[in-house]
Amino acid sequence: MQDMRARVTRDGIRIYEDADFAGMAAAGRVAAEILDQVCALVAPGVTTAAIDDFIREEIERRGVVSATIGYKGYQHASCISVNHVVCHGIPGAKILIDGDILNVDVTVIVDGWYGDTSRMYVAGVASRKAERLVEVTHEALMRGIAAVKPGNTFGDIGAAIQTYVEANRMSVVRDFCGHGLGRVFHAPPNVLHYGRVGAGEVLEEGMFFTIEPMVNLGRPETKVLGDDWTAVTRDKSLSAQFEHSVGVTATGCQIFTVSPAGKFFNTRV
Ligand code: MF3
Ligand code: CO
Ligand code: CO
Repeated sequence: MQDMRARVTRDGIRIYEDADFAGMAAAGRVAAEILDQVCALVAPGVTTAAIDDFIREEIERRGVVSATIGYKGYQHASCISVNHVVCHGIPGAKILIDGDILNVDVTVIVDGWYGDTSRMYVAGVASRKAERLVEVTHEALMRGIAAVKPGNTFGDIGAAIQTYVEANRMSVVRDFCGHGLGRVFHAPPNVLHYGRVGAGEVLEEGMFFTIEPMVNLGRPETKVLGDDWTAVTRDKSLSAQFEHSVGVTATGCQIFTVSPAGKFFNTRV
């Protein structure tokens, strides 16, 4: 039976039905399991192309579909963003060295539903400041997620993230944001990782979106390299990112991309 909740808000945000949460949870779980598997692979001497090859093969082995291969001409199963790369790093011949920190971002399509998630990894042992950046970025994502419940606003999410990051003397990237998703990869709204309490659209049960803050040790400005994908910090400072796909429930939210192995960082847990 059709759930009476299903509709699109004035701002173009789709409100999904109860039954749709299961589809998103299945897709999110596959993406999170693949990120769990990547933990064993990341080490000094490994190329980012080798990590992407593993991800592409794992997607094929599981009989699901990569959302990124063929997306706007992108040809890889993941984005791998090392050190001062903010996001959309292209896997390639780059060899990881001891102390590199990297974000691996995977989006899969399972039965038409999109699961989009990313995490940080360390090759070898990170410096104390790199480790702090990674920890602050993860905590910033979780504080943003804690602000997700009906009646709160998207501004509340951004404010929770920005306040925490800036209290730790780091900066929130403004040039990229989270996004609605579901049976599509990118949909309204833009989910900003900065903002003011009470600003923006009101969250409603049945909204599906990502939260994916990028945090820099230095200034927030970014630039995109000549390959038209790779975004880097203008001041070359280190950058980190974590991403979850979530759905708003009656009392809070469901994280679709939570790690089945309880991992969030390959040097931890
Ligand atoms: N997964 C990214 C996101 O979080 C988008 C990657 S698009 C690609 O929205 F084409 F660069 F892969
Ligand atoms: Co995303
Ligand atoms: Co992503």
